[in-house]
Amino acid sequence: MNDKQLVAIQAARQVQDGMIVGLGTGSTANYFIEELARRHREQGLRITTASSSVASALQAQEQGLPLVALEHLRKLDLYVDGADEITPSLALLKGRGYDLVREKLLARASDRFIVLADKSKLVSHLGEKFPIPVEVMPFAWQLVKTSLESLGITVSLRQNAAKDGWAITSYGSLVLELQLPKALNSGELNQLLNNIPGIVEHGVFDELADAVFIADNGQVEEIWKNP
Ligand code: 5RP
Repeated sequence: MNDKQLVAIQAARQVQDGMIVGLGTGSTANYFIEELARRHREQGLRITTASSSVASALQAQEQGLPLVALEHLRKLDLYVDGADEITPSLALLKGRGYDLVREKLLARASDRFIVLADKSKLVSHLGEKFPIPVEVMPFAWQLVKTSLESLGITVSLRQNAAKDGWAITSYGSLVLELQLPKALNSGELNQLLNNIPGIVEHGVFDELADAVFIADNGQVEEIWKNP
């Protein structure tokens, strides 16, 4: 069993009968979906799930998990997802995928948000290893880019996988990738990006995670915000 699987199985133990569970996106979240489906099938665990992306919805559907559309939910009990970077204060960078809007909605609407990762995701500040993704309304991208550049931030428009066009998110937004001139506090960064018109959503998840489960060589450490 690899580290991602291990941490996903530990998180799946948090799920109890009757819960509404948000399903994350990515390779670690996929292991969580797999384990949840196994418990549903083999142990008769009664749950409802909501997906953070088309990819996680398909995964849940294929594995026979009961899925409900986001528009029918007022709140969730638990959301479990991966992240690209995690700071010591449990601020996250997410969004290597294309579903930031749904991911942040689920994180905010859940009683508990548990993040699954291996040790390679731990950083001292956001933007240390990856550029910060920012979803922008297509007609606003140049204006948003100019606003960000005036703050000394280096901005590029994300290319698609074939590098022959621009990346488009699930909601038709373009994605800007930001390189910060210096390390910024995640709260300040969050505020700064929240305040720029034309930004639909961004990959800084500040004050949203309740716990991070970190796997390292077959061991899992649980770090809870309020232990
Ligand atoms: C998608 C995400 C993923 O959770 C993040 O990229 C981690 O992926 P993986 O579990 O494959 O390392 O934020 O938007």
